[in-house]
Amino acid sequence: MKIAVVGTGYVGLVTGTCFAETGNQVVCVDIDANKVEKMKNGIIPIYEPGLDVLFNRNTAEGRLKFTTDLAEGIKDAKVIFLALPTPPGEDGSADLKYILKVANDLGPILDQYVVVIDKSTVPVGTAEKVHAAIAKNASTELFDVVSNPEFLREGVAVEDFMKPDRVVIGTSSEKAKGVMTKLYAPLVRQGNPVIFMDERSAEMTKYAANAFLATKITFMNEIANLCEMVGANVDDIRRGIGTDSRIGKRFLFAGIGYGGSCFPKDVQALEKTSKDSGYEFQILKAVMTVNEDQKTKLIPHIKAHFGGDLKGKVFGMWGLAFKPYTDDIREAPALYNIKELLAEGAIIKAFDPEAMENVKGVIGDTITYTKGPYEAIKDADAVLIMTEWPQFRTPEFEVMEVLLKDKVIFDGRNLYELEQMKELGYTYYSIGRET
Ligand code: UGA
Repeated sequence: MKIAVVGTGYVGLVTGTCFAETGNQVVCVDIDANKVEKMKNGIIPIYEPGLDVLFNRNTAEGRLKFTTDLAEGIKDAKVIFLALPTPPGEDGSADLKYILKVANDLGPILDQYVVVIDKSTVPVGTAEKVHAAIAKNASTELFDVVSNPEFLREGVAVEDFMKPDRVVIGTSSEKAKGVMTKLYAPLVRQGNPVIFMDERSAEMTKYAANAFLATKITFMNEIANLCEMVGANVDDIRRGIGTDSRIGKRFLFAGIGYGGSCFPKDVQALEKTSKDSGYEFQILKAVMTVNEDQKTKLIPHIKAHFGGDLKGKVFGMWGLAFKPYTDDIREAPALYNIKELLAEGAIIKAFDPEAMENVKGVIGDTITYTKGPYEAIKDADAVLIMTEWPQFRTPEFEVMEVLLKDKVIFDGRNLYELEQMKELGYTYYSIGRET
């Protein structure tokens, strides 16, 4: 099948590359000429594990191509994915200007039946808006608009794409259903379901999934906060409740809050949709407030430990990305902690395997960036763990002991066992566990 993917961010590029891998002819379209030029020269603009192998294979075998020209990109395409940004506007609602611009541009250049697919996370009712925008300049016989939300996680996006738990397709058109079934057939061979529904329900499904997961994490963060007050251990609680299949083991890890480009934006947007519809979504409001506080949950412990004065104190920060296996720093808790600590006059030396360049782009040289984790903690007053990269899980504590001024760890990701920390003689602060 000939496929066009408009927008080459995380979602667009993974979608395009993976559909090329399943044998389709894919053209990725982006208005950023610089980016397109890079991709034509084999440079992948994002870090996503496993993407390089597929990208290289499919460009080499001629199934994956790039252009800045929309008309050239969609020529002969049977489906057109819209994978464009939907940044939050000032009032929290998703801004549809990029999507609607492309929809407007598509109308005059459609010359045969095509399925236009909303892949970006978009508010309920967007498929209808996209339909109306295209229909201004094209016969409605020439196209259908389908909502096909993406559930992939950054860092494991390729795997999530190739082996989806489910594929959700929102359309009321039988013709579009047929095209979508054929397109996804290679990805659901293990029996994972393709779930058909109407456009609005598909759009809502995406928000409901992300809001539910953000709520699940936030619930555990609140349990963790309470654990600290009553002397219980949130890791034991997690084990104690996660084995109940109604609750499930995943997404129960307490920490310094959820970040990234999706949960914060989607929770906010759903709350806004709710408000606009005349409904108070009380849980979501609480989720946002709690998560905001959670990001800097360690700061009071840090201040108390140093007697309230952080001026000139040196912190070795491990992890900057909002989660491991990504260079994404959007809404990363590390950034919030850096801001608070710098305001108190602290000095930060940071290491992250992938995200340092991005952080530098935002806060420049207000902190020092190091080549490895041990350099970051040399002569530091404490270690501060912000992201659970695997390499931080089993460090050489004996080496750390020599490098650090004092054996103190503030851990926002609960990487170590309390017993082990006690035995090694570290002063150890974590989330929802005794100090
Ligand atoms: C999330 C969803 O998991 C995807 O299904 C969805 O497609 C994507 O958003 C999207 O809307 O595009 P992602 O933002 O890549 O994916 O990251 P997650 O792995 O879901 O983690 C989100 C945040 O929750 C991270 O900050 C992570 O540290 C935090 N988290 C996760 C916890 O604090 N505790 C947990 O137990 C799990």
